Amino acid sequence: MARIAIFGAGYVGLVTGACFADLGHEVVVRDVLPERIERLRAGEVPIYEPGLEEVLERNRDRISFTLDVREAVDGAEFLFVAVGTPPTYSGDADLSYVWSVVDGLPDEVAGRPVMVMKSTVPAGTGERVRARLDARGLTNVGYVSNPEFLAEGSAIADFMRPDRIVVGAYDPADADAVVQLHSGIETEIVRSDVASAELVKLAANAFLSTRISFVNEIANVCELVGADVVDVARGVGLDHRLGPHFLQAGIGFGGSCFPKDVTALKQLAGNSGYPFLLLQAVWEVNELQKRRVVQKLQHRLGGLRGRTVALLGLAFKPNTDDMREAPSRVIAARLLAEGAEVRAWDPVAQPDDLHGVEICDSVLEAVRGVDAAVIVTEWPELRDLPTAEVREAMARPLIVDGRNLLDPAAAAAAGFEYEGIGRPTRSAPGGLNGKPQPAPDRELQD
Ligand SMILES: NC(=O)c1ccc[n+]([C@@H]2O[C@H](COP(=O)([O-])OP(=O)(O)OC[C@H]3O[C@@H](n4cnc5c(N)ncnc54)[C@H](O)[C@@H]3O)[C@@H](O)[C@H]2O)c1
Repeated sequence: MARIAIFGAGYVGLVTGACFADLGHEVVVRDVLPERIERLRAGEVPIYEPGLEEVLERNRDRISFTLDVREAVDGAEFLFVAVGTPPTYSGDADLSYVWSVVDGLPDEVAGRPVMVMKSTVPAGTGERVRARLDARGLTNVGYVSNPEFLAEGSAIADFMRPDRIVVGAYDPADADAVVQLHSGIETEIVRSDVASAELVKLAANAFLSTRISFVNEIANVCELVGADVVDVARGVGLDHRLGPHFLQAGIGFGGSCFPKDVTALKQLAGNSGYPFLLLQAVWEVNELQKRRVVQKLQHRLGGLRGRTVALLGLAFKPNTDDMREAPSRVIAARLLAEGAEVRAWDPVAQPDDLHGVEICDSVLEAVRGVDAAVIVTEWPELRDLPTAEVREAMARPLIVDGRNLLDPAAAAAAGFEYEGIGRPTRSAPGGLNGKPQPAPDRELQD
């Protein structure tokens, strides 16, 4: 069993550490945030990730947490880098946290530890890290690119049962060591050079994002021609050459990975002399898609000034508390800018930086007296939204379903006006149960 140091106690670092400990390895996780380390030492988990607490708990004697680089590095055979690589203003990846790890290593490190890059970095980063290690005299430290594909919300299962493990190395012995470290996990291994491994990760995320923007554009066409994107996507996805994944139309992608990885790959290509036009379009479609919900509300409500809107779900997707690049941020900001009052509810995410938005403790509290409710995140709890209680609580029972979570016919039958994404709109049969009738606004399809 190996001794592993992990730099970064975030979503990737903690899941990686917990899972390697579960595989029997001895793990030390290092972070720079004292509060985070204190909480972890006290047995608390600073992020919401289903199952993580249990895995950490049952491996308490094999995993420790520290602020001290020496404590992490001493005796470690692997130095995993799992720090953030957020976008800069130019759209390039910000590698400053990666450099803080490389530059923060002690001047002398015993043995031959392998630095393993789990953070998502542009192709070419490995070469720069290798050069920087060499310049520091740390030629005995190996380097391997081993990108991470886990998805928040299912991270433990994704780590333990991945579709593949990608290992890009300069020295085949380093690659062997990293592959060996994963024994106990049954999957395909993709061995490559370092630049190719780096590009696998960016290409995979860019391709998933492309599918989302593609189906969102199909949804927008559906609205114009009277088709239902849910049926269209099902018909398309059953083609074995295409598959059903990432064909759910909605309000666009967000999160800490897709947006930044799309721009990072676009920038990487552009900086290398190739304008990646497809990704430019993927990005623009996504930006417009987030705003379409606001347009739908404008059309339905005949303007937003003085209206009250409930945003249901804030996290960028269900089963996480991650608010990074969440579409809810853009929608809330647009609604506020148009003069609407905004209430919001999320079962897990409790952001304190959504200025001007009233965060509510329950769905019922959020929808009381509102002119419309928007399903922003498809939390399972919201499947039961169209109840008589909710309908009675709303000033106008209008649901804009940004994730096509609900059955339109059932929502209409329950007395709601319903509008999804790329689906025919629905009105409640026989009016809106004594609620004020909608102004005869144009539908988006007009
Ligand atoms: N979150 C995901 O779903 C996911 C999935 C696959 C890949 N990735 C990639 O993995 C990387 C990490 O993502 P994340 O979501 O876990 O980030 P995160 O922001 O949740 O965690 C990063 C942690 O690194 C710490 N840190 C910063 N500098 C440090 C240093 N010098 N030493 C030790 N710790 C340091 C931060 O304090 C923070 O706790 C990113 O490159 C991301 O693109 C993320």
